[in-house]
Amino acid sequence: MVVLGIETSCDETAAALVKDGHEVLSSVVASQIDTHRSFGGVVPELASREHLRNIGYVVRRAFADAGKEYGDADGIAVTQGPGLVGSLLVGLSFAKAMAFALEKPLVGVNHLEGHIYSAFIEHPGIEFPVLALVVSGGHTSLVFSPAPGEYRSIGRTRDDAAGEALDKLSKFLGLGYPGGPVIDRLASGGNARAYAFSLPKISDGSLDFSFSGFKTAALRLIDAEGIRPRRAGKVPRKILDLVASYQSAIVETLVRQTRRAAERLRPRSILLVGGVACNSLLRRRFKETFETTGTPVYYPTPDLTTDNAAMIAAAGTPKLRAGAGVPLDLNAHPDLRLC
Ligand code: KG4
Ligand code: ZN
Repeated sequence: MVVLGIETSCDETAAALVKDGHEVLSSVVASQIDTHRSFGGVVPELASREHLRNIGYVVRRAFADAGKEYGDADGIAVTQGPGLVGSLLVGLSFAKAMAFALEKPLVGVNHLEGHIYSAFIEHPGIEFPVLALVVSGGHTSLVFSPAPGEYRSIGRTRDDAAGEALDKLSKFLGLGYPGGPVIDRLASGGNARAYAFSLPKISDGSLDFSFSGFKTAALRLIDAEGIRPRRAGKVPRKILDLVASYQSAIVETLVRQTRRAAERLRPRSILLVGGVACNSLLRRRFKETFETTGTPVYYPTPDLTTDNAAMIAAAGTPKLRAGAGVPLDLNAHPDLRLC
């Protein structure tokens, strides 16, 4: 079964063709980073406009790269939410029009389920039950999946997402956008013990996350230490130490809550997915923490970790196999829940 995936939930216009849920025939991602860079974050109106401009080309490229004709797709999977409503609508409208014109079945996919499926593309044999940490610019959620397609929400952020916390500090320090990859790189040159960030105390035993306290603490430190945003040239030592300490606090929070969840739920596999899962310290700490206890950790290659449409096609494949029509009333749900 060849599935066309379409993803436009945030600032990436993406289309992919995936065979049988795990063979990526093509995956095209048009990034809008240059459009949003000068604003230090995604501007929703500009994002929808860019999606409109790019979607036709991106879908055509996905077919061309795979050496396929439109009629070769057996079905279409499109991100329905969560995300920016104006952005979601571009992908949804395009997918509906294609499904109608080609008389192909269409399914809506939850973006978080897409991220979870991104791990299965390269590792189709992952054993259930699965505990997934979905950690990106818009989400930080712990999801327990006892069997394929079944999800229980175990914990989620009460304020910022982890990626958002990294992006905001980077913007504040003038380090660039998006901040996650910049901080990942700079942190390796800093001392992560230079500044102490106390991990949030969530005392009701919940497995939720909170990152806004780190941001406030970082702003206080910037003030107290007289740190100025970088203009140009070499990044000062204090900034390197600050980003290393900040990144380490975020990573340890993610590790701690995931470890607690794993102790309670005893999963057979742990998935680390979503854009922040590219982070080298986070990947290393997950391997160290869980693989010594015998639970394998899976994460996708970087291209499948940040937003892409192959993961949407993969998540849509079992839904299309189960039977789907052409639901022309399919709508965007900016706050769509997975469970
Ligand atoms: O999954 P994604 O592409 O989009 C959302 O669904 O949000 O994730 C984007 C986020 C951004 O916050 C970006 O800073 C972060 O992933 N990110 C990273 C790294 N690469 C991307 N964060 C930390 N370390 C990285 N290497
Ligand atoms: Zn995402």
